[in-house]
Formats: sequence, structure tokens, C-alpha cells
Amino acid sequence: MKEILREYDTYRQEQQEALKQREMEVMSALPELARLRHSLVTYLAQKARTLILNPDINPADEQEENLAKDISKKEKALLMENGYPKDYLTLHYRCPACRDTGYVGELVKEKCKCLIQKLVERTYSFSELSNLDKENFNTFDPDVFPDTPLPESNMTQKEYMQQMKAVLWEYQESYPHNPRKNLLFTGKTGLGKTFLLNCLAKAILDKGCTVLKVTSYNLFEHLFQSVISSSGEDSLMKESIFEVDTLIIDDLGTETRRNNFTAEELFNILNERYLNQKHTFLSTNLSLTDLREYYSDRVTSRLFDTQNTIILRFMGQDIRLRGKRT
Ligand SMILES: Nc1ncnc2c1ncn2[C@@H]1O[C@H](COP(=O)(O)OP(=O)(O)OP(=O)(O)O)[C@@H](O)[C@H]1O
Ligand SMILES: [Mg+2]
Repeated sequence: MKEILREYDTYRQEQQEALKQREMEVMSALPELARLRHSLVTYLAQKARTLILNPDINPADEQEENLAKDISKKEKALLMENGYPKDYLTLHYRCPACRDTGYVGELVKEKCKCLIQKLVERTYSFSELSNLDKENFNTFDPDVFPDTPLPESNMTQKEYMQQMKAVLWEYQESYPHNPRKNLLFTGKTGLGKTFLLNCLAKAILDKGCTVLKVTSYNLFEHLFQSVISSSGEDSLMKESIFEVDTLIIDDLGTETRRNNFTAEELFNILNERYLNQKHTFLSTNLSLTDLREYYSDRVTSRLFDTQNTIILRFMGQDIRLRGKRT
């Protein structure tokens, strides 16, 4: 976010600099325009002096308004007569809605659409979301799942996954007002967990909210490197881990295990995000028992807190193997 706002600042400064250059160029090329501007400046200086000496005078001044309008009209005409575009001496905004500040609104400042869009683009390129055009709710294909009954339920794997899709579709419809902010996908390999995480990520990004999706391995490598390099400045990734509306940690359990480091960092992330009412989605091949064994009680009590977490069990056959057979 800071990086993007710095770019906005730089762009505004560049535009102001460019305008100054254009003004200098036109002033020397068109002395008549310089005289026009000078007459306004002289008028304003005189008015300021009068106001200082007579503070009771009403500063609203119809004459000034008319003069400014008149000069602006003459300026435009002069520019066009001499082959310049008529907006040559005005600031050019990339986004007229926020005038390139990133925020709109008088009293309550809100992020402008252009800023949200930039945030989304940045998170797309930086987080692991390159697959979203292929893996989303529109491309969800129930036929990749076999029609065989699941021993643990009265549905086939295909029916079960259609139900799962429906539940998550409803979840994204209510987003971000869901009472439970965390989702935990558990299940063996090749059952469609990552695919459905991508569906959610795309739906949430399309609402203009921010998403960071990382594999657990990359997340903890990054955190570990930032501890040992102690560069002092937090990386964009570290900031995003706490700030994004939704953090998705895929494949929890595949990270390198480093004594208490992983459990402590994971607790920190889950806890901070819980306190700030932010969404965290996780997927794992580990069973609930494995999770208890791998991480500290503090982590599992957060993860299994059914007040705030929906645990979704993925079951059935590995569809990657199925694909190979057919
Ligand atoms: N609903 C779906 N429609 C179409 N393709 C799917 C669907 N679900 C999964 N796939 C495809 O099946 C393969 C396996 O799915 P996915 O990667 O989501 O499994 P996973 O449960 O995350 O596995 P792992 O635990 O190994 O990460 C992927 O190539 C994915 O694109
Ligand atoms: Mg996966």
C-alpha cells in the first residue's frame, strides 16, 4: 500500500513539474498570455492588501470570479489560436475522481476505485494467484469428481463436491460479513482444495477486497529469512500478511519445521488476524490429530475454534490419479 501511494505522490509531483514547464514554455512563446496572467496576479495582490488593511470587508468577490473566468476563457482561446491543446495549462489527472490522491470523499476518506484496482493488481502479481483465470467458480467442473459413493456419507464424491461448492458460493456471497472468518480445508491430496481456494480468492478480489495467497512453505521461508536477515524494514509480504482482507495459506504442514518458530509465527498470524476480524483460509493434508501434534495448543485452539472457523472435510479419491487413468 505504501509503495502504491508513493507512486501516486511521484506521479502527482511529475505532473506538477510538467505543468510548470509547459507554463514557462507558453509564457515565453505568447507574451499576451503572460500579460493576462500578470493582470490577475496584480489584481489578487491588490485585493490581499485591501483585506489586510480592512479586515471587515467581505472577501467574497464577484469581480474576482468574473475576472478569473474571463482570463481562463481568453487563455484557452489564445492557446488554440496558436496551435496548443486547450487544456495545455491544466493539470492532467490519471483519475479525475480522486485527482490521483487515491482517496475520495470530503469528510470520510475512502479508497478510490483506482487505488483498489492497483492493490488488486499488485496482490495478483505478487501472491500465488496466477491460476485464477483457470480456477474459479465459473470453471468449476463437477465431472472431474467420480460418481462413486463416499463411505463416510450418503453422497457420491461428485455430489459431495457440488454441495461443497454451494456452501462456499454462499460464503463468498456473504463476504466480508460472515460471522466465522476462518475456513480450514482438510483432506488428502488431489481432492480439489486448492481449486476451491482459488475460486474464493477470485470472487473476493472481484469484490474489490485484497487477497494474499501463499503456500505454507513459502510463507514460513519468507518469515524465517526476514528474521535471520533482520533488514529492519518489513517487506511488502510481511505487511500484507497482517493487512490483507483475506490471507490464504495453502498446504499447511509442508513448511520446514523449525522448533517453535513455525508454531509461534502461525499463532501470531492467526491471533492478530482474529483480533482484527480479518479472514484467514487454510488448507492442509494433515488430519486434525496430526495438526494437534504438529503445532502448539495455542495454534490448534485458534484453528479448531468453531465460533470463528468452519472446518471442511474433503473426502474421496485423488482426482489427479483418475485423470491419468482415463
Ligand atoms: N472443481 C474442479 N473443476 C475442475 N478441475 C478441478 C476441480 N477441482 C480440482 N481440479 C483439478 O484437479 C487437480 C487437483 O486439485 P487440487 O490441486 O485443487 O487438489 P488439492 O486437494 O489441493 O491437492 P493437494 O493436497 O495435493 O494440494 C488440479 O489440477 C485441479 O486443477
Ligand atoms: Mg493443493
